[in-house]
Amino acid sequence: MEGCQAGKEVAMETEDLKKRFRQMAQGALSLDTAFVGVANGLFPAIRKGGALTVGDLARETGMDKTYLARWCDAAYAFDYLEEKEKGQFCLTALGEAMCPDAADTLMPIAVGAVLSAHMAERATACMRTGEQPGEAVLAERKTILPWFGSMIEASFAPLFSGQILPRLEVFAEVDAYGGTVVDLGCGNGWYLVELAKRYPRLRGIGLDGFEENIRQATEKAKASGLEDRLRFVRGDIRRYPLEEPASVFVMNRALHHVWSDKETVFSFFRDHLASEGSVVIWEPAWPENRKDLRDPARRQLAFQGLSEHVQGNRLLSPAEIGQAFSDIGLDSTVLLFANGNEAVVLARKRR
Ligand SMILES: C[S@@+](CC[C@H](N)C(=O)[O-])C[C@H]1O[C@@H](n2cnc3c(N)ncnc32)[C@H](O)[C@@H]1O
Repeated sequence: MEGCQAGKEVAMETEDLKKRFRQMAQGALSLDTAFVGVANGLFPAIRKGGALTVGDLARETGMDKTYLARWCDAAYAFDYLEEKEKGQFCLTALGEAMCPDAADTLMPIAVGAVLSAHMAERATACMRTGEQPGEAVLAERKTILPWFGSMIEASFAPLFSGQILPRLEVFAEVDAYGGTVVDLGCGNGWYLVELAKRYPRLRGIGLDGFEENIRQATEKAKASGLEDRLRFVRGDIRRYPLEEPASVFVMNRALHHVWSDKETVFSFFRDHLASEGSVVIWEPAWPENRKDLRDPARRQLAFQGLSEHVQGNRLLSPAEIGQAFSDIGLDSTVLLFANGNEAVVLARKRR
């Protein structure tokens, strides 16, 4: 009798689990659908047109009409589109929120979901041999790579300007004497552009390994009229022939990419930092205790740990970064943000 009862409970639990997982799978499909619209510029095109037929949308975007018809069905099903009159589509509030230029856009969640699926597939294959193909995996999907920089910018720029920047006095000091901030692994350049907009005398050099990032960063600086103070160059962080001492080195989500060469990177800081110069490192904070990864707010970090491994990287705890500074004779301070998920480690060279 008891066994039957337990059996029924297990069956009910399995049914609940199936329901929960089907809902999660629907979430993934919704984000897949959104990604197609984001990466092909469909959301802004429909917003611009107000209400468009599939034919209008094909003319507006240059995309294939038959694919667009199927995408509109899916986007309608997942509530990104409304049918205004028969065959005429307009954006719902959810569709508006997927426009990359919308305030607090949902775009990075859609891009991140498809990138994660790509990284999961690469991790599956690479696990069989131990191969770590490196940074190149990001460039394997031609539709994802151009969105990588904007995805990071939209995810982290609000945290930077709202909470992190007000805690960093160093940039106002650099601005006072027109010093130079060097951003190593600058991505699409958003961080330096943000600083240069706020501090009118500060100058910046951004370095990144991907040509696409340098192109986007240069364009971004130009669009804000900052090209006379910001310069972006392609190169390797571990072999950068910097011509003048830097007032500040910044590295945002880039140190873990070159951690296997940390002695080279930290010696570079020591040798190329102006006297009283600073280093500001921003990294996802890998927790000391595995148990903390169960926190729903840290689960994304746990998956990132796996996808970084495919790229040959490992996420770092703030203490490890502090130790690397200590090894070159610099004291450092750790500032934590976003419930401890984001760490900014600040070090200054004393005379
Ligand atoms: C996660 S992204 C962060 C980008 C940017 N700092 C931001 O916050 O948006 C890491 C960046 O580091 C760059 N990177 C990684 N290893 C590099 C290397 N050895 N030399 C130059 N850039 C590198 C990548 O191209 C990528 O743009």
